[in-house]
Order: sequence, then structure tokens, then C-alpha cells
Amino acid sequence: MIGILYFSSTGNSLQIAKKVKERFCGSIVYIPKYDGDGSEFQRLFIVTPIYSFGLPTPVFELLPRLDKDKDLIVIQNYGGMIGGADALLYDYAKQFGLKIKGIYTVKMPENYTLFLVPPKFYTKSILKSSGKRIDKILDKIEKEEYYLPKSKIKTAKKETYLKNKSNWHLIGNRFSVNDSCIKCHKCIQICPSNNISLENGEIVFKDNCIACLGCYQRCPQKAIVYLDKKSKYRYVNPNVKESEIGKDL
Ligand SMILES: Cc1cc2nc3c(=O)[nH]c(=O)nc-3n(C[C@H](O)[C@H](O)[C@H](O)COP(=O)(O)O)c2cc1C
Repeated sequence: MIGILYFSSTGNSLQIAKKVKERFCGSIVYIPKYDGDGSEFQRLFIVTPIYSFGLPTPVFELLPRLDKDKDLIVIQNYGGMIGGADALLYDYAKQFGLKIKGIYTVKMPENYTLFLVPPKFYTKSILKSSGKRIDKILDKIEKEEYYLPKSKIKTAKKETYLKNKSNWHLIGNRFSVNDSCIKCHKCIQICPSNNISLENGEIVFKDNCIACLGCYQRCPQKAIVYLDKKSKYRYVNPNVKESEIGKDL
């Protein structure tokens, strides 16, 4: 059985993970709720977004504990710029002695939309082209045509990623809920870092945010706002059921 370990806040990585499952069968496992090392699987896939030219925290924390004897293939997805995230991942994988066979990247719709809202047609066209790219990647994996990044990650880039990562918690401090909040508590349930709680009946954001923006993007009332911005744009991948994001499938 193949283990398809994924992290996703808005469904892009889940869409890819489901395509991997369609092609190779296996179990889809949501990384933040998984405390294993992958040893129960024959081989491993990781499907992950790129964050700040690097890895989201749950994936960063998973790598060192993964079973070093299992073949590992990673599919990274991103909204605009890879910025060496594939080389950075390769560097970490080698550092932890992982048996990494291939790293592939696919452009998906941008979900870091706190400041910029992409036009609708752009998101639509990326969803269309990414479907073809995912199929191509899976064809290559099926034929065992593995790809690994050729260039090495520069130390300065690695340091910048780690610095950015150390600042992600600040994003949570800038979220609040407006009057549209119906206290459904969905944000509390879906937050992968348990950063949101209920205190005296009020939604409170703590200091443990990993910047995934899942709460902001998936609040059914669009009641979570960043700073005091009024933007009503929210993104969730239309090719998956929102309720499946964060589930094992
Ligand atoms: C905190 C954060 C940082 C991000 N950094 C990058 C980045 O460095 N480069 C990029 O192209 N996209 C970046 N993105 C966009 C996501 O990688 C992209 O939209 C991805 O497909 C989202 O996957 P998901 O829907 O599975 O969560 C970032 C998104 C977030 C939330």
C-alpha cells in the first residue's frame, strides 16, 4: 500500500493527492494529524504546497522522522514562484538520509491572497493547465522517469526561508472576526496548529499560527479578516469538496 501524505489548507494539494490515489491506489493521510513515520506503507508520496520558497511547518516537521528505507516522491505545488523550494526540499531530504526518488512541481491557484486578488479567469486557466501537468507528472512517475533538482540551495536562501517561517506566527495575531461570525467554530476545528480557541464565547487567535490561511479562506461567513481589510475574496479549490480538506481518504 502506498502512503500519500499531504498538507493542504485550500485544497490544491488534496486535488493532487486524489489524482495520485486514482493512479496508484493507496491511502491519503493528512500530515498534521499523522504521528507515524511512514513505515506501514510500501512507498511514500508527499504532496505539499510551497510556503515562502520552502515547506509548510507540518511538512518540515515530518521529514526528519520519516522511515529512511522507503522510496519517497514529493509533489510540490505553488502559486507563482518556486524560488528554489524544490532544491531546499532535496537538501533537507538528503540531510535526513531519506531515499528520495523524485521531486516534481506544479503551479496551482495562489492562496496567499491577503494582499492581492487574482482575476477569476486567471485562476480558472491555471486550474485547467495544472490538471494536464499533474497527469504528465504521474505518467513520468509511472514510467520511473524520476526528476531531482540539479542546482544546490544557497545557504542564504535557506536562512531566509527559516527566518520567514519564524515570523509566520505573527499572521495569526493580525486575524480577527467581524460581526458576520455565527460562532460555528469551524475555524477552531480546522486549524492545523490549534491556534484558535473560544474564550468567554469569543474567537481568539493565539501565537501559534503557521500561516496556512485555512481559517481565513474557508470560514463559511468570510468573517475572518486580516488587519482591518474588507476584502471578500476567498479561495478554495473547486475540484475538491471543502469538507474533505484535512481528512484521511
Ligand atoms: C504562507 C504561504 C506562503 C506561500 N508561499 C509561496 C511561495 O513562496 N511561492 C509560491 O509560488 N506560492 C506560495 N504560496 C501559495 C501556495 O503555495 C499555493 O497556492 C498552493 O497551491 C496552496 O496549496 P493548498 O491549497 O493545498 O494549501 C504560499 C501560500 C501561503 C499560505
